[in-house]
Amino acid sequence: MSSVVPVTESIPCPNYVDGQWVTSRSGQSLERRNPADDRDLIGRVPLSSREEVDEAIEAASRAFPAWRDTPAPARGKIVLRAARLLEEQAEEFARLLTREEGKTLGESRGEIQRSVNILEFTAGEGRRLTGETMPSELRHNLAYTLRQPLGVVGLITPWNFPVAVPVWKIAPALVCGNTLIWKPSELTPFTSRRLVELFVAAGVPAGVLNMVHGQGPEAGDELVRHPAVRGISFTGSSEVGSAIYALAAVQMKKVQCEMGGKNPVVVADDADLDLAAASTVSGAFGSTGQRCTATSRVVVVDSVADRLVEKLRERTEKLKVGNGAEPGIDVGPSVDESQFNKVQEYVEIGKHEAGSLVCGGKALRGTTDGAYNHGYFTAPTLFDHVQPGARIAQEEIFGPVLSLVRAKDFYDAIDIANDIPYGLTASIFTGDASRAFEAAELLECGMVHVNSPTVGGEAHVPFGGIKATGVGERETGSTAIDFYSELKVVYVDYTGRKRDSKLY
Ligand code: UN1
Repeated sequence: MSSVVPVTESIPCPNYVDGQWVTSRSGQSLERRNPADDRDLIGRVPLSSREEVDEAIEAASRAFPAWRDTPAPARGKIVLRAARLLEEQAEEFARLLTREEGKTLGESRGEIQRSVNILEFTAGEGRRLTGETMPSELRHNLAYTLRQPLGVVGLITPWNFPVAVPVWKIAPALVCGNTLIWKPSELTPFTSRRLVELFVAAGVPAGVLNMVHGQGPEAGDELVRHPAVRGISFTGSSEVGSAIYALAAVQMKKVQCEMGGKNPVVVADDADLDLAAASTVSGAFGSTGQRCTATSRVVVVDSVADRLVEKLRERTEKLKVGNGAEPGIDVGPSVDESQFNKVQEYVEIGKHEAGSLVCGGKALRGTTDGAYNHGYFTAPTLFDHVQPGARIAQEEIFGPVLSLVRAKDFYDAIDIANDIPYGLTASIFTGDASRAFEAAELLECGMVHVNSPTVGGEAHVPFGGIKATGVGERETGSTAIDFYSELKVVYVDYTGRKRDSKLY
């Protein structure tokens, strides 16, 4: 790793309201540094006030009628132009993403490509914003459905996928004819700014897309409380999501929350253990474990557990931790000090409650005298013989920590995998097709992977979970449209006569 202090200019971070870049008047801001090298000050993010959020909501309300009346295929074309622009700017986006979030350059490039795919798919939805026609019980009658926008929507997004998650909310919101206010995470305001610039360059009219920087308790809360905002789409913690859900319910707002996970890999006794180990290590430690779909538990049938643990240890110890901007790095830093401290706390909890620490188990920052000292690095950590009810097996850590739980047999493994408040993804590793289908049926979650990692999703496929992980319609795929549109039914009677009493 390089020990040269990066010389960089700090990036300004204005809000975008009613087609104008405006400096926040709040006078409050936070510093944002590169999590892999805290000598690199990227810039300061303003903490906007409630009044500033209100101004953005007013702008979005004014812009709504004209945007609603713009034909959906024309709205889709703007989104397609955004796809082309993002493709052209992919490398700059990926580098900025690595600098502000910490994931490796390879992971950032993957996120940008996924975002391009989502924009392309969603643009096409502008030509598929269809309804249904239904025959009537009555002669010369029919019914059909229309999709109409909600109006003004509020989007609150996390730092761990600061391009893909906003794209998968903004694109369907726009295609369906909504105007929006986006509050990005205060940890990743710089890719957010670039993303807004990109949508503006693609042709999104003034007032249709507004961005206000700030924190949840003030800017986010104002979006959720303001009566003009008719829908809220949130990705983040289950704690914040349930508070948003409750608050929005008072005003009967439409809500979509995509929250935590504690995703298991289930390994049956007939699994290909090399495949299971390779997939588990990439699912657990890729993105530094900072992914709602990250693998954080392995539930393995006891008869093959020792062999699997050995394979996991070998692969985990080979991972190269460091600044993701440099070549050959597998695992980047935690996103900031508080996330890093949380990981260390769980590592300590694990040492007390787990049967054994297999590898890792230590912070690299502050413990070596090299370049690690400038980033929030932790050695990828594996605990074995973890009890299913242990805190490290139940609570979302969002870091490079993996817990292995041993099960008696296949069904015991499924029960352990399901005994958790969350339900986002799960993987099953088995060589037996019947077991694979059975597991797909029994695992309590929104997405099951067979003989592949718990992470990853495609643009045209629904994404989301159940239990404490998700409420509201699934994101991405054609189901994204379900959240951002209201269904209207139209009954048409073309008899020209007063209807008799046959229809109730
Ligand atoms: C993915 O893991 O495929 O916040 C995308 C999150 C998710 C997005 C992750 N909602 O981690």
